[in-house]
Amino acid sequence: MRHLIDILDLSVEEINEILATAEDIIANPAKYAHSCAGKQLATLFYEPSTRTRLSFESAMLSLGGEVLGFSEASSSSASKGESVADTIRVISCYADIVAMRHPKEGAPMVASMYSTIPVINAGDGGHNHPTQTLTDLLTIKREKGRLKDFTIGFCGDLKFGRTVHSLIEALSRYEGINIVLISPEELKLPSYVKKEILKAKNIPYTQTTDLLEVMPQLDILYMTRVQKERFFSEEEYLRLRDSYILTVEKLETAKKDLTIMHPLPRVNEISVAVDNDPRACYFKQVQNGKYARMALILKLLEVL
Ligand code: NCD
Repeated sequence: MRHLIDILDLSVEEINEILATAEDIIANPAKYAHSCAGKQLATLFYEPSTRTRLSFESAMLSLGGEVLGFSEASSSSASKGESVADTIRVISCYADIVAMRHPKEGAPMVASMYSTIPVINAGDGGHNHPTQTLTDLLTIKREKGRLKDFTIGFCGDLKFGRTVHSLIEALSRYEGINIVLISPEELKLPSYVKKEILKAKNIPYTQTTDLLEVMPQLDILYMTRVQKERFFSEEEYLRLRDSYILTVEKLETAKKDLTIMHPLPRVNEISVAVDNDPRACYFKQVQNGKYARMALILKLLEVL
């Protein structure tokens, strides 16, 4: 039985296979309409979500399966003090696969140790978000036609942004990737990611606080939300919230074929006027998220 806790749980070959399946689902959705008939997905969300939870549910329904679960900790027995270990033992009796989001780093990993069904990490605190990474890789593949040889800028909250950590991990295994880290001093990429991934694998990277300065060199710009819920002080959040706001004017020096990504939700960091720019890909990313999760469910349930 396989879990997906960290994107590195999947080999590059497996990731490529999942992306190929996702592209086949896009081309031939009818072929997969009953692939998970009789199977149930449980979504255990201890933290707010729109896209991740609903895309998992939509993915399972489009595969002919069924879904159950909860969307807030307060409506589950977590509010009575039940441990993640006990909850997952219980869910293992009801469902065939589970997607879990939790505010505590490592909670889905703990769940996987007690589970008799595959556990998917749907975001654990400020740590990882591997299914967003599959979504992002599928988007890059479809937009750029390749998963190598590009410069990607990560902009915003690189400290708490779990989507950034997972995508950097994943990209460290592809060739010719150049990383530009753009953030305020206070929200720099954690040193463990720099040490264990970027330095350990000799990935070329630069750090800056100035988005405009690096804009012309980027093939992909990955914008992120400042993660309000992970701040200790409201004052600090308010001070850093609007560090970067991508506007039409700021894109003037960008490449014509730039790909603008954002895992969403967006707060203020991309002006709505940018949505009309053909380079804006964040709503396409949302659509890709459903296909990537369909392909992942098929893989973990060993349906293919
Ligand atoms: C992200 C997350 O939850 O980490 N959202 C998502 O799953 N698409 C990004 C965010 O919340 O800012």
